Amino acid sequence: MPKILPDKSLSKLDSYKLLKAYQKQIAEVSIKKHFKKEHDRLKYTWLDWENIIVDISKNRIDKKGFNLLIRLAKEAGLDKAIEAQFKGEKINTTENRAVLHTALRNLDNSPIFLDDKDIIPELRAMQQKMYVFCEKVINGHWRGYSGKKITQVINIGIGGSDLGPKLVVEALANYKNHLDIRFISNIEGDHHKEILKGINPETTLFVIVSKSFNTQETITNANSIRDWFLKQVPHSSIEKNFVAVSSNIEKTVSFGISSDNIFPMKDWVGGRFSLWSSVGLIICLAIGPKQFKELLKGAGKMDSHFRNTPFEKNIPVVLGLISVWYNNFWGSESEAIIPYTQYLRNLPTYLQQAFMESNGKIVGRNGRSVNYQTGSIIWGASGTNAQHAFFQLIHQGTKLIPTDFICFRKSLNGNEDHQNKLLSNFIAQTEALMNGKNETEVLDELSSLGMNPLEQKKIAPFKIFEGNKPTNTILIDKLTPESLGSLIAMYEHKIYVQGIIWNIFSYDQWGVELGKQLASKVLDDIEDKSKNSHDPSTNKLIEIIKKRPFN
Ligand code: F6P
Repeated sequence: MPKILPDKSLSKLDSYKLLKAYQKQIAEVSIKKHFKKEHDRLKYTWLDWENIIVDISKNRIDKKGFNLLIRLAKEAGLDKAIEAQFKGEKINTTENRAVLHTALRNLDNSPIFLDDKDIIPELRAMQQKMYVFCEKVINGHWRGYSGKKITQVINIGIGGSDLGPKLVVEALANYKNHLDIRFISNIEGDHHKEILKGINPETTLFVIVSKSFNTQETITNANSIRDWFLKQVPHSSIEKNFVAVSSNIEKTVSFGISSDNIFPMKDWVGGRFSLWSSVGLIICLAIGPKQFKELLKGAGKMDSHFRNTPFEKNIPVVLGLISVWYNNFWGSESEAIIPYTQYLRNLPTYLQQAFMESNGKIVGRNGRSVNYQTGSIIWGASGTNAQHAFFQLIHQGTKLIPTDFICFRKSLNGNEDHQNKLLSNFIAQTEALMNGKNETEVLDELSSLGMNPLEQKKIAPFKIFEGNKPTNTILIDKLTPESLGSLIAMYEHKIYVQGIIWNIFSYDQWGVELGKQLASKVLDDIEDKSKNSHDPSTNKLIEIIKKRPFN
């Protein structure tokens, strides 16, 4: 395999050793103490860029540690790795592919060469085809097979062909047009039955999205929906009501999609980074090309920030390093992401795939197992809902869970009362997590309520908050297509930063293959096409499934 990215084991870097020693020194120093010691703490922990503020001051680190993290990034060769990605070098080494989702949001037409060919002209043509089609559907010029306007669109895809588009369509609901958008992802027949309820085949456009056109869930769903459709209408109707997004043109055509109705994508766009490509067709249908371009613009701005900003002020770099700090030096296993807006309720799910499929790897870039932790577990939900669900564990549990708090300063509909309450919760949580509440404060509070001293002593331990829980605050001016593009791109780049430091390949996903292979064997067993031998548990489960009546 060609060596394009640096190959430096994290545990062998000098700065890693220095950070280990530094962590021991400051293990008992609280974030509050760091604030007391450092009068100019906000100078280096406050990153203000465009309409986004990232405040990392509420973390267990001081200037010395911050500098060591920056040194770690430099020693790991992050600067070269960033350039290699943007230049289109084949950094997805195990699949021999470039990683160029950034080219899709390139703000100008400057050439990007891949195998000596500028990819920009073809890319612009693909984008133009998508924009023209979306305009036609939105303004009613594209009609269904019976001549009626399209009113509903169903996206059939899974993983990256579902999560990113779904996130953005829901996030930008305020910018959406009249089209009713739905998503079918799971292979479960009941799921697609539910989604198809009330669907009129005449006025519905089905968008099949599969980079490989080989994914069992998507192809099974697409087949069933095509059968359901053709039961009601003549075969030629497919042309008006089915389109597809794929890089496998041959398979897409043999499924029955006319080549005019295929929106191609390139192998240099990874599935979980593909919402910017024609995989975003459903987004473009929902919000129109103008707003879709704004989304690309926001991501493009973040790309150039990531590529050109010194590490100290580089948002994705700093966030990636902070995450490595807890993962590799404090033994933290997971990170929570809490967007304080219902519009972004799907962000944690989307980021789960983005982070965990990218960085859930034990094998280093040298082909050997690493001797340190890699990809952390990502989870979360929208605030304030999350406060009433799992925040207890973050506040008073035994686990260390660094948390990202994301909020927009302005609401979209100008409801000040609600927005002020939302923002106050958003801020108060990070303050509470950092400050906690000590015994004296608890006792004072209880005595002011008139409780007798004996009772106070008994109840106090349960009311103490240890505090010192790390958070990042991400405050964005307003939720717009542009700011959303920047936010998503920020997290995408954070993934790469971590992957480079962990010395792993972030852009392949071999770990999902084994399950797929075995599922096909088990299916043959369930359908009596073969009799494979499994372990006793698996054999018994298959036996029971076969014995039971289907319904
Ligand atoms: O199974 C994982 C995966 O390959 C993801 O990486 C991808 O986003 C998803 O499946 C869907 O793949 P496709 O777009 O090829 O159907």
